[in-house]
Amino acid sequence: MGFFSNLFGNSSQKETEIMTNEKLNIGIILGSTREGRVSPQVGEWVKGIADKRGDANYEIVDIADYNLPFLGTGTGQEPGIQSWNEKLASLDGFVFIVQEYNHSITGALKNALDLAREVWNNKAAGFVSYGSTGGARAVEHLRGICGELLIADVRVHPTLSLFTDFEEMSTFKPADLHLDNVNAMLDQVIAWSGALKTLR
Ligand SMILES: Cc1cc2nc3c(=O)[nH]c(=O)nc-3n(C[C@H](O)[C@H](O)[C@H](O)COP(=O)(O)O)c2cc1C
Repeated sequence: MGFFSNLFGNSSQKETEIMTNEKLNIGIILGSTREGRVSPQVGEWVKGIADKRGDANYEIVDIADYNLPFLGTGTGQEPGIQSWNEKLASLDGFVFIVQEYNHSITGALKNALDLAREVWNNKAAGFVSYGSTGGARAVEHLRGICGELLIADVRVHPTLSLFTDFEEMSTFKPADLHLDNVNAMLDQVIAWSGALKTLR
């Protein structure tokens, strides 16, 4: 406190937050909303790994909980849109759980991305994806969208196979080899989320 006060006079709220070393809030965003989706299984697995680290507050953020209208079909003032924006505003970084639909992300995730703007800005994101080729094509599309929303997307990207990480493409049984990758991705998300907090 004294050091910062001496340097800058009265410390700002931002400096105070940095000095008190508050934990970052990281949202694990489920990208699919369809009946029978597997994304909750994958999200809970990532959260279990993340919680063991103790380096941030991790929470599952389920797009399906927000009852978001399709962009442009309502007043734009629906309570779900407001809650969605408030939730995103409370987060310092994101882990997107991404599933591949027609070589891209789901319509639900694209709509949810489009229904917010500034609350995405200057935050970091990592991805865990799945599909027949690990969901890689969907994430490459999502990286382009992140650029427009000023979301800094990290490099390490765990990719899960529908054929080998799921039983009958529905029961999630991840191979052990993904564990190190998830932690490496989280290392990068935490480092960049902390760094970008100073910009906001
Ligand atoms: C409309 C639709 C399109 C899909 N297209 C692809 C695709 O292009 N590539 C792929 O690997 N999997 C594709 N799949 C398979 C999904 O990746 C798989 O069903 C996955 O479980 C979907 O995630 P979810 O269960 O969380 O909804 C598609 C599934 C749906 C429903």
